[in-house]
Amino acid sequence: LHVIHIAAEMAPVAKVGGLGDVVCGLSKALQKKGHLVEIVLPKYDCMQYDRIGDIRALDVVIESYFDGQLFKNKIWVGTVEGLPVYFIEPHHPDKFFWRGDFYGERDDFRRFSYFSRVALEFLLQAGKKPDIIHCHDWQTAFIAPLYWDVYVPKGLNSARICFTCHNFEYQGTAPASELESCGLDSHHLNRPDRMQDNSAHNRVNSVKGGVVYSNIVTTVSPTYAQEVRTAEGGKGLQSTLSTHSKKFIGVLNGIDTDIWNPATDPFLDVQYNANDLQGKSENKEALRRKLGLSSEDVKRPLVGCITRLVPQKGVHLIRHAIYLTLELGGQFVLLGSSPVPHIQREFEGIANHFKNHDHIRLILKYDESLSHTIYAASDMFIIPSIFEPCGLTQMISMRYGAVPIVRKTGGLNDSVFDIDDDTIPSQFQNGFTFLNADEKGINGALVRAINLYQNDPESWKQLVQKDMNIDFSWDSSAAQYEELYLKSVTRGRATKR
Ligand code: ADP
Ligand code: GLC
Repeated sequence: LHVIHIAAEMAPVAKVGGLGDVVCGLSKALQKKGHLVEIVLPKYDCMQYDRIGDIRALDVVIESYFDGQLFKNKIWVGTVEGLPVYFIEPHHPDKFFWRGDFYGERDDFRRFSYFSRVALEFLLQAGKKPDIIHCHDWQTAFIAPLYWDVYVPKGLNSARICFTCHNFEYQGTAPASELESCGLDSHHLNRPDRMQDNSAHNRVNSVKGGVVYSNIVTTVSPTYAQEVRTAEGGKGLQSTLSTHSKKFIGVLNGIDTDIWNPATDPFLDVQYNANDLQGKSENKEALRRKLGLSSEDVKRPLVGCITRLVPQKGVHLIRHAIYLTLELGGQFVLLGSSPVPHIQREFEGIANHFKNHDHIRLILKYDESLSHTIYAASDMFIIPSIFEPCGLTQMISMRYGAVPIVRKTGGLNDSVFDIDDDTIPSQFQNGFTFLNADEKGINGALVRAINLYQNDPESWKQLVQKDMNIDFSWDSSAAQYEELYLKSVTRGRATKR
């Protein structure tokens, strides 16, 4: 198959969260299975250019309409993690991707509808004939209606469209008239069975367009796929999802086990594996030294947390866990940052309060290399999310031997199974879970984890080794995507859409 991903993120060059990891990891796994996989991204000024191999401008200029005018776009090509990636650089006075950040701009709807249009224009003009165009999240969900309504008539017609929604909280809505900018017909699309936002009649919803107009719609775990069919989880799209339920499925993400491998990880002081946990202890010592935490008491468990600090992640429970860990005789390291000013300020206050403390450190920034050293150093890892479409940090932490303590929701419910839950066969039990999103809920799980760590080191060691040996690679999830693609391509030969 020829698969082209069109996305707003790709790790490690342009990553805000898990979306970037998935675009890279899934693409690598599909390429390993023998498929031709290419990726199209915006050319952001703030990308990690040192991680792109042989980047060069193509000898073509792609002209594309926006707001009824023609704009020129330069196309660059390079290699990221062995994958061919095209980067679109618009010559537009609004300098869409020249803002020093990836998202959070007031004109994000315009920026990404522009990008989606140029991406398809590029495929058409370059003569690409993909079998699958795979778009991700609201930023590129525009691809689905643009493909069928604008580009199939122009002759780009070889593909089936797969849309993955990584988080239904972010839907990309705007006044219907804004669709006109990228050449979509707002009168045709602003209807309840098409792109009209389910709660505002004069607005359109990009994710809804992705759901309605794609051949395959996925989200990132089976439990979340169930949750979003309810009023609470669907954030207004539950009825649309039930109308389209035949093509909608949850596929659990994997992680890139080459990048996330404690036995080869170049960011670590000492590499280690499940049979050599001494190396893990040395990483713990190294991190304590680096952050100025006390090393006196080896029995103090180190609790890690690496996250975007947004309400979804249960920020009030994270704050509670910091104090509770201290009370229970542990150490806590948080790496995170928040796009929400009052949350960022609140955590800056806590960070400041503990800045010389022996057992607590909060580092409020995005730092990839530090994240690797925290996974390696932590004994346990906390994820008290209110909802979590998939979550990758529980899988990464297990691979690094940090036992997860999670709320049972979304993908956390599909990957972490409580060691005290008798309904789960013991070979699958791998962490600590709790159900209620309140202090009592998290207390129960954290107390049990710290007790086991302090009072039964042998059982703890066995749990760590078991977690490190679980296969969280993309192999089986990529096989599921491959099957979905193949079925859709076969069906596509029989029908038009
Ligand atoms: P989400 O996509 O909702 O943020 P995921 O668990 O799917 O959550 O993915 C988060 C990814 O981002 C993980 O790879 C995690 O290590 C990384 N990450 C989150 N916050 C930071 C940070 N402050 N510094 C470095 N990496 C981070
Ligand atoms: C989103 C979700 C997260 C998921 C990630 C990758 O950002 O919040 O749960 O793991 O996408 O699919």
